[in-house]
Amino acid sequence: MADTEGTQEVHNYHLDTPVKSRPFHLKGCHALDWGMQNRLANIFDAVSGKTVMLAVDHGYFMGPTTGLERMDVTIVPLLAHADTLMCTRGILRSTMPATFNRGVVLRASGGPSILKELSDEEIAMDIEDAIRLNASAMAVQVFIGGEFETRSVHNMTRLVDIGNRYGMPILGVTAVGKQLVRDAKYMRLASRICAELGASYVKTYYVAEGFETVTASCPVPIVIAGGKKLPELEALRMAYNAIRQGAAGVDMGRNIFQADAPAAMILAVRKVVHEGFRPEEAFTYYNSLKAKG
Ligand code: R5P
Repeated sequence: MADTEGTQEVHNYHLDTPVKSRPFHLKGCHALDWGMQNRLANIFDAVSGKTVMLAVDHGYFMGPTTGLERMDVTIVPLLAHADTLMCTRGILRSTMPATFNRGVVLRASGGPSILKELSDEEIAMDIEDAIRLNASAMAVQVFIGGEFETRSVHNMTRLVDIGNRYGMPILGVTAVGKQLVRDAKYMRLASRICAELGASYVKTYYVAEGFETVTASCPVPIVIAGGKKLPELEALRMAYNAIRQGAAGVDMGRNIFQADAPAAMILAVRKVVHEGFRPEEAFTYYNSLKAKG
């Protein structure tokens, strides 16, 4: 029997304080269920509304990419500075410490290697395994304009349906084929299609001309991929411009783990994304950390 002895009978219903409805901090995500919002809150900082995702999933089609040959040595030390880790389930289980308690976004599509037609992907994991791994989102590549465009869109929509059933956000990753022009018109098309078809958020590439039209026409948050390795100041400038033009963060890989000083670089990227550091300021910060070793 419950122990009711000594139960207090004085109640305070705070009648002078109206109950507040708290808006969710992410664009287009206010109507999502609690579990879905909670998972997104593991990815996007509640104060800045932004995220620094560390993308290390390249091995799913490229094998041991430069900088990712020994992820226990090169990536694990960076985890302390990442809001979210984006990786495959194989690397998560084999290499990443389960003490990492921020968001994990799992690569959920795959199939072809760099030796084959890349758009020929299938869904590559079950949602049960993503839930077992306590993932905060699943990521699927969408090849708009690619040879297997319809299949890749269908991969995403199937995952969106399954994700909605279990409260799992789906990140639509816009992939750019070799033959496609990487411009704002293409990014608008690809990002908007992902959002219209149910992605909770979208990853796309930054474009120098008109990126603000890509973020404006996408009703859900956009994070940018880093793309190929740039000099550090240029990478910080890209992150700065993307945030200024409406991105909700970065999902950056090579520009962090292939930097001269990866830990200094992710910390500098954080300054840009979360604190609005200008690129030059963040570069000075990067160099000061790098000099300290
Ligand atoms: C593609 O291989 C993956 O989805 C990466 O996560 C994505 O391209 C971001 O990595 P990076 O900044 O190196 O382009």
